[in-house]
Order: sequence, then structure tokens, then C-alpha cells
Amino acid sequence: MNKSIPNKTDLIKEIISLKKKKKAVILAHYYQNSEIQELADFLGDSLYLAQCAKKVTSDIIVLAGVHFMGETAKIINPQKKVLVPDLKAGCSLSDSCPPDKFKKYIERHPGHNIVTYINCSAEIKSLSTIVCTSSNAKKVINSIPKNEKIIFAPDKNLGKYLIRETGRKMKLWDGSCVVHEAFSLEKIINLIKKYPQAKFIAHPESESPVLEIANFIGSTSELLNFVQKDLSHTYIVATESGILYEMKKKCPNKIFIPAPVDDDTCACSECSFMKMNTLEKLYFCLKNEDPEIILPNDIIDKSIIPIEKMLALG
Ligand code: 13P
Ligand code: SF4
Repeated sequence: MNKSIPNKTDLIKEIISLKKKKKAVILAHYYQNSEIQELADFLGDSLYLAQCAKKVTSDIIVLAGVHFMGETAKIINPQKKVLVPDLKAGCSLSDSCPPDKFKKYIERHPGHNIVTYINCSAEIKSLSTIVCTSSNAKKVINSIPKNEKIIFAPDKNLGKYLIRETGRKMKLWDGSCVVHEAFSLEKIINLIKKYPQAKFIAHPESESPVLEIANFIGSTSELLNFVQKDLSHTYIVATESGILYEMKKKCPNKIFIPAPVDDDTCACSECSFMKMNTLEKLYFCLKNEDPEIILPNDIIDKSIIPIEKMLALG
């Protein structure tokens, strides 16, 4: 394996040429760094990436995001090679729901529909009735007959938000995202006072007190759509700061301020897992066709069912 690393400009050229030569396609999440976003064939939120994974015809898919996104693409495409730049790019939310504990939880609460947020492992998906993302979560919950019981996992914050929005009772798994729980309510309130004309917008993985003061709540793509249609000029944005790149691209004359976090050593909220992907890793991943997502067949066979149910909802 040749480990010599080209410089940044050459890396970008090499990635484009390898992509062409191998007829590979790059799917990237909005939380990736801007260079990776620029190289993506498809850039979007978790739902869009799953929908793209279903449509692509290339034999090689590179998922520039976190591990569960690569797994989802593999479950949808068991015959294709699904690569990720770094297998260690995990997710605190996914890690907060270990399959052995979740199995026992389901056993203790029989007779429930198991609705899982896509930010979970393939094994958790294999135990689910239906999967959802933050873009379609309300639709998914509303698709379940009113007289039926629901367990929602792993994100308790999104779960609380959905209980409020849909009026459905749900048992919530106690999981959360480190990035969205890091926002400081006090600092956000101070920032809103400093910029009284600004709108405060937030991702539903944020905690309830933060969501309560938001002018708009939505998935990354919904936040992006909102700032394009809304007439305000300045926005305080409570989600991973990678989305600001696409917001600025789509609205060059508007101002986007990342919502402040509790930790004084950093000004914005970055997902360290998402940011494990670099141009170098993307280059080596395409060049060596490694690391690859490998999943047991029985997990693929079981987890495709709740994913297909979600995709069928549109
Ligand atoms: P969406 O892009 O689907 O809103 O998800 C955000 C997220 O946390 C992905 O890990
Ligand atoms: Fe997971 Fe949170 Fe990072 Fe999204 S932002 S990948 S939920 S840790």
C-alpha cells in the first residue's frame, strides 16, 4: 500500500480521478468539512443519503459521514461495496443504545412498535418495527395506528419533541447526542439579546429548554430550507456547525452564527466523529477500496425491513 500523501490540491484531483476511474459515488452528510462536501456527488441529511443509497447504480459507494450511515447504505445495497473513510467515525447517540440492553428493554415492554431513529447500529435496526430520521419522524409516528403502543429509541430529546408534536405517548430510551446536548441555554439567550433581529433555529436532537425558545425546529435539510425561504437576515443555528457551509453557500448575504456551547474552550459545536473524515482518508479509502462496511447477512435481512418501511413512506 502506497502511503505517500499528495498535497491538498493534488488530493482533490486524485479523489476526482479515482472516483471516475472506479465509477464510485460519494455520498456526504452536511456535517462533513467543506472540502468533502464539495467533492460529494450527493450531499444531504440522513434521509436523503438513505434515499440516494437506494437509487445509485455504481458498484462502489463511499459514505462520508459516520458509521451508522455507512451501515444503512450497506443494508440497502448488500451486493455493493460500501466504503467509509474511517471505520472509527462513530456516533454518541448510536453508542448510547447497546443491542444487549435494548433487547432486554424490549422484552420488559412487550406489545410495542419499536421506532428507531436512524442514528443507531444495524443490530438495533434489526430489532425495529420502523426506522425514522429527523426529517420524517413525525410522519413515521403518525403512520402508526393511534391505539398501538410505541417505544422510541435511542434519542430521548427527539423523542420528547415528537411526543409534544404528535401528542402520542411513547416510552423513550435514555440516549442522546453529545454535540446537541452541549448547547448552553444561558449563552444562547444572551446571544439572542445581542442580536434581537436574529432568528434562533435548532435541530430536534437538542434538549427541550433549547427547543422551547427556538423560532424554528427541524432536521439539517429543514433548517437549510427554512433559512432560504425566511426573510430574516441573521440566524443563530443550534446544530453541528458543518451545516453553516451550505447555508452560507445558499444564502451568501445572510449571517449565520453557530449557537454557543457550555465549553468555553470552543466557540462552536463540532461532531468529532464526523470530523474524523479527512481528504487524506477519503483518498486512501477510494484508492485501496478500504475500509469497507461488512455486516452479517442475518442482520442485513432483518434491518432492511424497517428501513424499507420508512422509505416507502416517501
Ligand atoms: P439529519 O441530517 O438527518 O438532520 O441528522 C443529523 C445528525 O445528527 C446526523 O447524525
Ligand atoms: Fe451522532 Fe450527534 Fe455526531 Fe450526529 S452530531 S453523528 S447524532 S454524535
